[in-house]
Amino acid sequence: MIWFYFVLISMLLLCPNTTILATCSSIGNQSAAATDGNYGGINKSCFHKEKQALLHFKASLRDPLGQLSTWRPAEDDDCCKWSGVTCNNHTGHVTELNLHSYHLRGEISPSLLNLTYLNHLDLCFNSFDGTIPKVITSMTQLRYLDLSFNFFHGTIPRSIGSLTQLRYLDLSFNFFNGTILPEFGNLTNLRNLSLGNNERLSTIQTLDWLSNLSHLQHLDMTHISLANATH
Ligand SMILES: *[C@@H]1O[C@H](CO)[C@@H](O)[C@H](O)[C@H]1NC(C)=O
Ligand SMILES: *[C@@H]1O[C@H](CO)[C@@H](O)[C@H](O)[C@H]1NC(C)=O
Ligand SMILES: *[C@@H]1O[C@H](CO)[C@@H](O)[C@H](O)[C@H]1NC(C)=O
Ligand SMILES: *[C@@H]1O[C@H](CO)[C@@H](O)[C@H](O)[C@H]1NC(C)=O
Ligand SMILES: *[C@@H]1O[C@H](CO)[C@@H](O)[C@H](O)[C@H]1NC(C)=O
Ligand SMILES: *[C@@H]1O[C@H](CO)[C@@H](O)[C@H](O)[C@H]1NC(C)=O
Ligand SMILES: *[C@@H]1O[C@H](CO)[C@@H](O)[C@H](O)[C@H]1NC(C)=O
Ligand SMILES: *[C@@H]1O[C@H](CO)[C@@H](O)[C@H](O)[C@H]1NC(C)=O
Repeated sequence: MIWFYFVLISMLLLCPNTTILATCSSIGNQSAAATDGNYGGINKSCFHKEKQALLHFKASLRDPLGQLSTWRPAEDDDCCKWSGVTCNNHTGHVTELNLHSYHLRGEISPSLLNLTYLNHLDLCFNSFDGTIPKVITSMTQLRYLDLSFNFFHGTIPRSIGSLTQLRYLDLSFNFFNGTILPEFGNLTNLRNLSLGNNERLSTIQTLDWLSNLSHLQHLDMTHISLANATH
């Protein structure tokens, strides 16, 4: 099985525009708009505190391709025009980070907690590893979270249950192990949930939590055995 991930990752490294990338759902419009520095005619420049948070976030990452080269500390540099960053066009607050396929790795800085209006975080197709950092499960305002196609491992933290605003959650194509937690039953706003293709996330004890997810439209549990599940 492991070879499969290496083939995937190698394909990513060798040909970043292959159709495999179509599995990152939010691909396309938002980041294209962000790169153009044109997202609905925003005139308000970004907030100092949010800019500092983004610069701290960048500082703890490794960015071998310089994808974050537009993220600069210069005084007159508007962080709403930075690649991958989207701001609300009325308030100027940072609302989205679309960093899929940026080849990033390293630490995810707790400074993200200062992006208090961030509701959309897409880190799909990067090289983050380790367990899901606490900062992520502390951003309880998130509505969209995509961590798919990384090297995250270990068990999924129980604190995932605090992300109650999530509409979209994709944890697929990582290396999580252990069981699927009943805490997912707390995520009652979910429309889309993808947990599949985690090589060792192979058991599930109970499906009771699933009946709580009454808005669910899309559920991916590819390669997760339901053999021991009751309900
Ligand atoms: C992307 O933008 C194009 C036009 O620029 C639009 O037709 C299309 O519906 C958009 N797709 C999504 C998913 O927003
Ligand atoms: C601001 O964004 C909203 C959607 O987020 C859009 O409907 C509206 O047209 C935008 N306003 C301007 C002035 O671009
Ligand atoms: C931004 O400024 C331009 C003129 O510089 C103006 O035409 C446009 O309406 C402004 N947009 C918003 C959302 O205020
Ligand atoms: C948030 O910003 C404040 C300054 O505005 C700073 O003192 C604090 O350390 C930041 N928090 C994090 C978690 O980075
Ligand atoms: C479930 O969500 C509630 C808020 O709706 C929160 O107080 C509680 O801590 C969450 N439980 C877990 C296990 O995250
Ligand atoms: C999951 O993997 C970690 C090592 O990455 C290990 O320490 C832990 O015991 C494993 N947990 C389960 C439930 O398999
Ligand atoms: C269902 O969600 C409610 C909160 O909306 C929570 O109190 C309850 O524990 C959840 N049930 C399960 C089985 O997760
Ligand atoms: C969520 O799932 C629905 C139903 O399968 C699908 O139509 C939609 O495109 C998915 N949303 C995203 C953001 O992928």
